[in-house]
Amino acid sequence: MFVAQPSTGGTKRERYHELARQLAGLFADESDGLANAANLTALYFDALPELNWLGFYFLRGEELVLGPFQGKVACVRIALGRGVCGTAAREKRTIVVPDVQAFPGHIACDAASRSELVVPLLHGGRLLGVLDLDSPREARFDADDQAGLEAAVELFLRSSKLSRLTP
Ligand code: SME
Repeated sequence: MFVAQPSTGGTKRERYHELARQLAGLFADESDGLANAANLTALYFDALPELNWLGFYFLRGEELVLGPFQGKVACVRIALGRGVCGTAAREKRTIVVPDVQAFPGHIACDAASRSELVVPLLHGGRLLGVLDLDSPREARFDADDQAGLEAAVELFLRSSKLSRLTP
């Protein structure tokens, strides 16, 4: 049985390295994209402080559709270009929003959210979806969070069969 190791010591970067090591362990014997996406959300939501939501949206045609997540019930469909998720997806770049109320078109799935980080899932330049994190604290996410979450997404994309996630 996999037991997540608490990762409380060291610098923030070191904690992200330790989490990535645990994620690689989870993915070592499993390549199912849905299972790996689900376990990534459980591991990171449990380990990272001050989050109220963490999850995937996968691309279906011209919209993002809700995938595995941790947190409150969320919006199911987001059009490309809409909200923080749709903007990160259309622009194919990570977006860090220190204050969601100042982001034009932000979609408030959970009224508790104050800041947000969205990493696009890009496989050989092709958009497959996004990983979205929300925090109840303003300016919760910095460059270390961005790098740590981009590394997790990279590992997920490298280790998982994605064809059934994004038909
Ligand atoms: N806030 C996001 C919508 C998704 S939820 O936060 C889970 C957005 O503006 O795209």
